[in-house]
Amino acid sequence: MTPRVVRTAAELRALEGTIALVPTMGALHDGHVQLMKHARPLAETLVASIFVNPTQFAAGEDFGEYPRTWDDDLQRCEEAGVDVVFAPEVATMYPAGLVDQVTVDPGPLGSILEGEQRPTHFRGVLTVVAKLFGLVRPDVAVFGEKDYQQLALIRLMADALCLDVEVVGCPTVREADGLAMSSRNRYLTADERVRAVALSQALDAGVAAGSDGPEAVRAAALARLTDFGVVPDYVAVTSPDLGQAVPGAARLLIAARVGKPRLLDNRALTLGPDALGHAPEGS
Ligand code: PAF
Repeated sequence: MTPRVVRTAAELRALEGTIALVPTMGALHDGHVQLMKHARPLAETLVASIFVNPTQFAAGEDFGEYPRTWDDDLQRCEEAGVDVVFAPEVATMYPAGLVDQVTVDPGPLGSILEGEQRPTHFRGVLTVVAKLFGLVRPDVAVFGEKDYQQLALIRLMADALCLDVEVVGCPTVREADGLAMSSRNRYLTADERVRAVALSQALDAGVAAGSDGPEAVRAAALARLTDFGVVPDYVAVTSPDLGQAVPGAARLLIAARVGKPRLLDNRALTLGPDALGHAPEGS
């Protein structure tokens, strides 16, 4: 069934039963469809939001050219069993006079990794997600693990601000060659698309070196990126909650520009001790 498109808080208030929310910025791909399919059985009503959030883009970033693919997005929502598409106007999310009056401070976790590269990004993300939670009032909200730091921060915000919503993460969906699906992949030229596989291959190499400790993981990942001529913004080995890496469960995260788009990817891994037998600092 074609999803109902709603644009206002009043229309959302009329929804009945339990609600699952999948927040998106549109330009939907199979990764989003998987999030929606995962969310479908979690509540009676499945809402997908489509809103290109201006406050999470810094000046000079791609807000203006971010792909807007409305007809295709609606079709994908229908395919995934979405009941309601919430597609607000900017003024609904940012009423005149209230923009920047009150925002969500992401705290220390928001200033490392992506936050170091894009200092205002997570403030914009958390602020819009808090607004979406307030408007849609979901029981559960589903996000992709591809944006791992974003997922960690949204979980933290939901706990810290007592938002009473269960935040669920879903595994990254990949193209056949391993590239993590992303709306920004459509910016890649044919040549860049070939080189973009560097990130997932670097993750594979890093994960395979896990038993030799974090430095070996970073070295293996960097070597693979270098093979493709890709210079990363960061290759980081952390604990699963993005703290200092210690032997055992860990996360490997990579960000790199391949041509115009900046690509992110990450994988879980298991770390052994480093060559000296102790756990070095997370990178
Ligand atoms: O991941 C995204 O698409 C966006 O950051 C989100 C969570 C929809 C907030 O605008």
